[in-house]
Amino acid sequence: MEEEKKSPKHVAIIMDGNGRWAKERGLPRLKGHEQGIEALRRTVRATIDLKLEILTVFGFSTENWNRPTREVNGLMRLAKYFMKTDVDELHRAGVRLRVIGNRDGIDPKLRHMIDEAEKLTADNRQLTFVVAFNYGCRQEIARAVRRIAEKVAKGLFDPKTISAEMVQQHLYIADLPDPDLIIRTGGEIRLSNFLLWQSAYAELIFLDTLWPDFDRNILQQAIEEFQRRDRRFGCVKA
Ligand code: FPP
Repeated sequence: MEEEKKSPKHVAIIMDGNGRWAKERGLPRLKGHEQGIEALRRTVRATIDLKLEILTVFGFSTENWNRPTREVNGLMRLAKYFMKTDVDELHRAGVRLRVIGNRDGIDPKLRHMIDEAEKLTADNRQLTFVVAFNYGCRQEIARAVRRIAEKVAKGLFDPKTISAEMVQQHLYIADLPDPDLIIRTGGEIRLSNFLLWQSAYAELIFLDTLWPDFDRNILQQAIEEFQRRDRRFGCVKA
């Protein structure tokens, strides 16, 4: 009998290629990011329809601050626009929004919008939508180590008891399962400091599609590719 095909519960996406999409059309890079928002909306709707439990996307990395000021400001404006125009609809659709990353570095107005959106949607369970914003996994791990060290310094526990589970518990999100599938669009084959810890056993799919062209069909094809993979988590089937 054929084994039932397992869908991923948690899909994470590195949304790459907005700039090139715009360049190919002779448009400013920000136009590519605007179309990236459209692709993101389509993807959230598709993940709800496909009954995935968690979608995590890389919205802005700690390294993205090094882009020209105009682009950084444009991305911040787009993030505010997204929070303003989309949160109510996400809430109505039963989406719980969570944002991971360093909030101290974000404009206070955007930070406030994020705090309010998280509060508003906290009890929703149709889909958990995690946006990594001002996020880098090395920074996330360093933060976890700092938090653990502070507890050790207070004498709360012996350093000998520090385990992988304990580190996991001190990451931004301790209560969600790791991603089963990580998709990167835009043709590059790397993780770029995204969910390095959490991707230990994730299946990775790299697509040439530029993010603004991403849609439900491409997501479905990636899920089918995931279902063809043999996930062993380091074990051998009996
Ligand atoms: C990568 O394209 C994409 C980003 C740096 C940002 C992703 C942002 C969005 C999809 C819109 C904003 C969404 C939220 C929720 C804030 P790139 O500029 O690196 O493209 P390139 O590699 O072709 O230059």
